[in-house]
Order: sequence, then C-alpha cells, then structure tokens
Amino acid sequence: MADQTQIALFLSAADKAAKMILETVQQDGFIDCFSHLDADGVAAAGVISKALYRLDARYRVRVMQWVDNKIVSNIIADKPQLVVLTDFGSGYLQLLNDNVPDVKIVVLDHHQITANVDNDNFVQVNPHEYGIDGATEVSGSGVTYFVAKALDCKNVDLAPVALVGALGDMQDKYDQRSFGGLNKLILEDAVQADLVKVVKDLTFFGRETRPIHRTLSTTTNPFIPGLSGEEDKALTFLASLDIDIKHGERFRSLSDLDEVEKKRLCSALADYMLSKGLHVEVSNLIGNNYVLVNEEPNTALRDAREYSVLLNSTGRMDRPGLGIAICMGDRGAALEESNSILEDYRKNINKYLSWVMEKPERLRELTNIYVVNGEDYVNEKIIGTVSSIMVAGLPNSQKPLIAYAKVNGEDAVKISSRTTEAALQLGVNLGNVMRLASEKHLGTGGGHNIAAGAQVPMNQIENFVITADELVGRQLKGEIFECDDNH
Ligand code: C5P
Ligand code: C5P
Ligand code: ZN
Repeated sequence: MADQTQIALFLSAADKAAKMILETVQQDGFIDCFSHLDADGVAAAGVISKALYRLDARYRVRVMQWVDNKIVSNIIADKPQLVVLTDFGSGYLQLLNDNVPDVKIVVLDHHQITANVDNDNFVQVNPHEYGIDGATEVSGSGVTYFVAKALDCKNVDLAPVALVGALGDMQDKYDQRSFGGLNKLILEDAVQADLVKVVKDLTFFGRETRPIHRTLSTTTNPFIPGLSGEEDKALTFLASLDIDIKHGERFRSLSDLDEVEKKRLCSALADYMLSKGLHVEVSNLIGNNYVLVNEEPNTALRDAREYSVLLNSTGRMDRPGLGIAICMGDRGAALEESNSILEDYRKNINKYLSWVMEKPERLRELTNIYVVNGEDYVNEKIIGTVSSIMVAGLPNSQKPLIAYAKVNGEDAVKISSRTTEAALQLGVNLGNVMRLASEKHLGTGGGHNIAAGAQVPMNQIENFVITADELVGRQLKGEIFECDDNH
C-alpha cells in the first residue's frame, strides 16, 4: 500500500493541477470538462462541477463513454482556455499531444498510463505515477477530490461523493470490504466532518431501500444456495427468526433492524451457510457499510453502495446531468427522476441478461475466455454492467469474460471485459489484453487489470476475440507484456 513519500508526491501533483485551474479562473478563462460515464466518472464530474461552481468559474461539464477524436474536435472547435479530463485521459495523452499540444489540459485519472508525454501544457494527477495502485487505492473521483480539496478546504464536504465513486469502481477490496491507501484518507476526511459513518453489518446490496427478504433473495455476493433467487424461502427463513418484515405498511430494510434482530439474523445466516459447507463465504457476510448520515434513511443516497448504482444508472441511461446535480447537492425533483431512471436501468439489465441466456451462441466458451455477443440488442453503454454481473456467475471463475455489443449508429463494436481476483492471481491483466488486441485490430482500448474495455470496427470483432483468447493464454503461461499494471 502507498507509503508517506508516495502520498506526498501524489498530493503535490494535485496542488499543481489546482494551481493551473485557479490561474485559469483568475484570468476568467473558460474551462471545458469531460468525464467518464460510469458511477466513478459521474461522481468525478460532480466533484469538479461543485469545486468550479464554488470558484465562480466559467465552465461546462460533459460526460462521455471514452476519449476519442470527437473530444479532440470539440476542443479544437471551442478553444477553451483549459480542459479538465476526469476518470479518463491517462490512456490518451499521446492522442492529445498529437492533436492539441498547445491546449492547457489537466488530467485527473487513475487508469494505467500508456505513454510518457513531455508537454508543459499537460498536468496529470495519476496514482500510478507514484507507484500507488489506481485499481484499488483511489478512483477517478478520489483523484478529483484531492484537487478540489487543494482548491478550497470547503470541498472536504465532497469526500462522501468520492467514496461513492470508489465503490462504483469496486475499490472496497481490503479486509471486510474496507478501503485502503488514498481512499482511506478520503474516508477519514468524511468521518471527521461527520458526513459518513462506518457500520459493520451484513453487506448485502440494498441495505437502505430493499425489503429484507428481497436483499436475502437477490444477493449474489455472497451467493446463498437455497435463499438466493428464492424469495419465498427467504420469507420463511425470516419468519422462523421472528423478524417482522413490515413496520406498519412499509417493508423494513436491513438498516431498520435493531441490534438484537441484527445479531439473530447474522448468526442464523452463518449457521445456515456452515451447514451447507460454505466456510469461506461466512467470513464475507459481515463487512463495512458506509452510511451518509445527512441523507434521508431508506433512500438510495443514504448507503454509499446504493448511491453508486444510482449514479451509474444516470450515466449509462444518457442522463448524467441528473447524477451530477445529485452529487452537487440537488435533491427533490432530481432525486425523484433519478430513482425512476434507476428502475428503468434495472429493467434493461434484467432484459439483457435473460436475452443472453436464451441462445447458447450468445455465451460461448473458448480456450481461455468466455465471450458474450450482445449484437445490436444490448445497449453499448450497458454492456459493461452486463459483463460485471455475468463474470460473477460463470462456471469457471478463472476465465475472463469478454462481452461486446454494436455501437448505435456507428460501424463499430464496444467491448467490455471483466475478470475475477482468482484470474489476476494467475497473471491475467485485461488492461493489457484490451490495449494490445485493439491496437492489432484497428481500435483503441485499455483499462485496469480486472476490468477493461475497447472499441474496434465491426468487421474486426471475430479476429479481436481470437487475439484476446491468445493473449490471455500467454498471460496464463507467465509471458509478460511490455506494460505492467503499475504503468
Ligand atoms: O473507468 P473506471 O475505472 O471508472 O471503470 C471501472 C469499471 O470497472 C467500472 O465499471 C467497475 O464496475 C468495473 N470494475 C469491476 N471490478 C473491479 C473493479 C472495477 O468490474 N474489481
Ligand atoms: O467500458 P468498460 O466499463 O468496460 O471499461 C472498463 C474499464 O476500461 C474502465 O476503467 C474504462 O475506463 C477502461 N477503458 C479504457 N479504454 C477503452 C475502454 C475502456 O481505458 N477504450
Ligand atoms: Zn474510475
């Protein structure tokens, strides 16, 4: 994990970025911001928006699926005095240097850096530059948070949003789903400012908003045979423990249980799982939950994990403005609308998952990978979520999943690959696989070792899949490629 020297170097890069932003604001320059469309990207967009709003800056924020020539043409056409890229950019420094070398650009990112570019107009804040792991120790919204804090200490109130972004990128990878590295510092800020409380409890998804029997029957992490997927059995299980599922007319959620009920439920679940031989899973039942204490109980914003899924849905359903508004503090109508977007998003995901399972050729198994072909049915902005969900349920957890779908209105395919900790241990690095396979087949790609993506022309997809299968095979044999995960 990051040591003090690495942290100090990272923070001084954040200071440098803050200085560039501040100078632009002081000269009344226009700032064009671009951010990634997933939960972390929307959270990062929210953090930078609030920080710039507080500075009374002239700015605009746009959320995109990736950095490409469209962003470059926008920059060339609009001639902003400063461009800020959040939660992406580090994989595209060469593209920016080739096309807009004279534009001042601040990159606040945590993805692997693919090229070293020497240009004084570019300021990059990225943990990988200091040997800090960007996949687990800080997210894009976290990097943006440190810059916001350097701009004005008032922005400490954005710490919860940065944690929400980190959870969106699944960075709660430490003991009992805790945070490590720079994320831990952000959590300390949030706790000290009385904005977040850490609660040790069952970590099933839906702690604030889902009826208890539904949290039990919908949990996949951990998966509980006999309860997961079986709502009736979950109801019987709760009844046998004398736990009321309703309070008046309202269904109770896990967060509504009192200490005695909580203990009863936890120990009954542990006994049940041990009786099924699930010893490892029992140790994963309890973990850290992050409660945003100023949010209304029983709303999605109260639990940081649920909050992150809400942001993800706004980004992927083409309504990122709603997510950004929420990060900046809007509630009321914006929250109501986001909740309905979240519902539609869930319906879409379920529809896509059933569709994939309808025909065997939609989920294929190759030598080293699984492949899902979403054709033009699965929305390319949601294929990433489909990939994340499906990878957890595949028969061989050591084989990465490569899912793809056609990009609407373009002659291109969007690819989203995901894998498991078990495969990482064996040497898989999907960031490298996506980058190398897409370079070979006329596209672009990259990302983290555990989750990465790419775009290629439509007629290249079959070859891309073959190359990806080969590359994973080589990684499993221990052949190292030129770019390791720290760079
Ligand atoms: O661009 P960014 O880094 O924010 O996106 C990371 C993506 O990878 C997210 O969609 C997140 O859900 C996914 N991820 C994952 N498993 C992890 C870490 C990240 O599926 N362990
Ligand atoms: O798009 P998806 O959710 O599959 O992306 C997974 C990870 O790979 C994200 O962190 C994303 O930013 C990264 N990625 C990338 N270059 C691409 C596509 C995705 O760095 N061309
Ligand atoms: Zn991110």
